[in-house]
Amino acid sequence: MRYRLLLFLQMINLISSGVVPPRKRFPDAIIVGVKKSGTRALLEFLRINPLIKAPGPEVHFFDKNFNKGLEWYREQMPETRIGEVTIEKSPAYFHSKMAPERIKSLNPNIKIIIVVRDPVTRAISDYTQSSSKRKRVGLMPSFETMAVGDCANWLRANCTTKTRGVNAGWGAIRIGVYHKHMKRWLDHFPSQNIHIVDGEKLISNPADEISATEKFLGLSPVAKPENFGVDPIKKFPCLKNDDGKLHCLGKTKGRHHPDVEPSVMRALKEFYGPENKKFYQMVNHWFDW
Ligand code: A3P
Repeated sequence: MRYRLLLFLQMINLISSGVVPPRKRFPDAIIVGVKKSGTRALLEFLRINPLIKAPGPEVHFFDKNFNKGLEWYREQMPETRIGEVTIEKSPAYFHSKMAPERIKSLNPNIKIIIVVRDPVTRAISDYTQSSSKRKRVGLMPSFETMAVGDCANWLRANCTTKTRGVNAGWGAIRIGVYHKHMKRWLDHFPSQNIHIVDGEKLISNPADEISATEKFLGLSPVAKPENFGVDPIKKFPCLKNDDGKLHCLGKTKGRHHPDVEPSVMRALKEFYGPENKKFYQMVNHWFDW
């Protein structure tokens, strides 16, 4: 008994003196999505807190790389000390059918973070990213054609059936029907372990959204309004260094969006209206989209 107590005290001593070497651990929290809602900004801004550690690239373990095994997954994580919080972000988990179940089998108590924004803006952002990537393949049809027109010939876009006049099978639209994907997360995790970040407020008031997320992670908030400035060209928030210099996200974030025909914007608003309400009810949080 005395020996065990000595061993315990020795361990406490080692931990508090920082002698216990850091090691790679499975994440305590995952930013699971939603793609194009500000997931990179959220992760970069959370890093203001020195206790938050994350791998640089997206890991995509629970969707694309699952066959590589758990040890591969752990290997992707940064080394952390006791008391530090490991987070990874892979935004395609949100709409992956398998991800919630697989994550739960690793850790049913893991914390899940989901950034959401107006699904119409999100769809335009998704389209802008796809068309910029596919310049070499050939120009993508316009956003309007993809959203409400005949996009049947475009790669794998499923636009054969329309819902309320909209190509609801096109990925950029389908991902924004949040309640359908959200249900899977709520079926696997208790709601108190799921934190929703408002992607619009993350742009207009990043300090508040970051502090709320730090609290959800069990940390004392470090983020303050003075940690942020605004990119004079893109008008998105950036981190402000101690010397006042701005550190903004790269050129693939804050892209210029195409102007979309007002009739198509209206069709999308009408399409998403009832879907958004189902989402608000599901998460008990009202947004003004
Ligand atoms: P756009 O580039 O289409 O404007 P994600 O990181 O999930 O891919 O989301 C990208 C989107 O985050 C950007 O889409 C942009 O609108 C939004 N965003 C939120 N905060 C941002 C920031 N501080 N800097 C740049 N983009 C930001």
